[in-house]
Amino acid sequence: MSDEHAQNDATLDANAHEGTTPESDREVGVSAAGAEAAGARETGETGETGETAQAGEAPTSRTHPMSRGLSRRGMFALFGGGVAGAAIGAAGTAAMMGATGQDAAHDPSLSYPFYGAHQAGIITPAQDRMHFAAFDVAADLSREELIELLQDWTYAASRITQGLEVSVSGAFGGDPYMPPDDTGEAVGISPAGLTVTFGFGRSLFVTAAGEDRFGLMAQMPDDFTDMPKMKNDFIDRDQSDGDICIQACSNDPQVAVHAIRNLTRIAFGRAQLRWSQLGFGRTSSTSTAQHTPRNLFGQKDGTMNLHAEEPELIDEHVWIASPEGADSAWAVGGSYLVARRINMTIEVWDGVQLGEQERVTGRDKRDGAPLSGGTEFSEPDFTAVGEDGQLMIDERSHVARVHPSNNDGIRMLRRGYNFVDGNDAQGRLNAGLFFIAFVNKPERFAKVHQNMARDDLFIEYLKTTSSSVFLVPPGMRDGEFAGQQLFDA
Ligand code: HEM
Repeated sequence: MSDEHAQNDATLDANAHEGTTPESDREVGVSAAGAEAAGARETGETGETGETAQAGEAPTSRTHPMSRGLSRRGMFALFGGGVAGAAIGAAGTAAMMGATGQDAAHDPSLSYPFYGAHQAGIITPAQDRMHFAAFDVAADLSREELIELLQDWTYAASRITQGLEVSVSGAFGGDPYMPPDDTGEAVGISPAGLTVTFGFGRSLFVTAAGEDRFGLMAQMPDDFTDMPKMKNDFIDRDQSDGDICIQACSNDPQVAVHAIRNLTRIAFGRAQLRWSQLGFGRTSSTSTAQHTPRNLFGQKDGTMNLHAEEPELIDEHVWIASPEGADSAWAVGGSYLVARRINMTIEVWDGVQLGEQERVTGRDKRDGAPLSGGTEFSEPDFTAVGEDGQLMIDERSHVARVHPSNNDGIRMLRRGYNFVDGNDAQGRLNAGLFFIAFVNKPERFAKVHQNMARDDLFIEYLKTTSSSVFLVPPGMRDGEFAGQQLFDA
């Protein structure tokens, strides 16, 4: 641990403001985000209550992230050095929010609990926008410093998901001679359903050279395997993997971008952005209350997805229940996030006849019903034969290849987004689907994908350019940080 750390382990705001800020304005306590959002913002109170971490207290994994605020190093990252300015309470945020115009298309006040048995952003109703980022942790970071980074991220995430700024002094309340803690672009439009979900890559546990860099190797579940290469994989490794991923989803694109931007800032010097992806237009429903959206092929996508209202199926297919490996029990309640950036040959697809497009998918393009008949939510009948004596659903159609009945009953929770990242020199869109699926074992996903990749009719129109697997640790209680179970194991 650096001298700077040894001497300064106290709260971000409380520490930085020592001697300059009245006690009542310090950032403290029990559920800072929740209390501020629900209490202070509504009542206009600026004082907060609760416990504050003491200066000089060692940063253990049990330190209460809500009471400690950002670490000194986190503050240093935001300011580029120096000290923090005076704090304002949440009422300042509320006043700014009230003064700012609101997007009528979404409810900016929609918020989901940050704490719980599982992390938010998995079975949460899929929001419309996503900013996904993968980080590499600095090579010289110690285990204690990694914990501190996770505490800082947890602290900030617990606030922004409730519509607060990343710290008490936030975007406008700091020292006018210092850069603000918060970049400010989400004020007045946040949280808009924001969820922030953390995941750990294999490289956090063990490097490619077999190094146990943070003393976590023994805790890595044996079933945390890499994704095998699939047909039509053109994987750019620089745009894949990473030590830690953060998935930020919101109904407002600016709120999702603000989350990744500010979490990246807080990590300055400790973790570096490795790759990131913006997504618009969810390509699945994760709640039966949501309508089925369409992907960039114009198809209804997400019809047969797992939904939050099916807890038994979610338990069976999504949450890690019995991880393999002696010291891996900490992962129970977590999940594996599989992320694949799948480029779609849009212009080729657009020249394909409607009937062929439907044969490729195995579903009617207008209403999403299986070609064997019925309505959108009817079960496909893979044995049904048409008047021409042919199977009504082609055996190589996407639906046939990935359906659980053809994959030992394996299901997954899909949570992907459309993307368009400009175009190439020939005027073709660089577009596709940033596919995200949550499963309780990477190999179960791989099995379905291999069945798809071998000869799914879809494959002709797809090229996968990025592929990653992250272990999303279980959820946390107020006072814990993301992944604490792993460090306590
Ligand atoms: C750009 C790539 C992809 C597109 C455009 C796409 C599109 C679709 C569509 C239109 C459906 C039918 C509606 C629905 O049930 O949601 C579907 C279903 C499904 N897809 Fe994909 N998909 C893609 C990639 C993948 C990948 C990589 C996998 C993972 C192996 C996958 C797994 C599934 C599953 C499990 C279903 C539900 C099948 C069922 O239960 O009937 N898809 N997909």
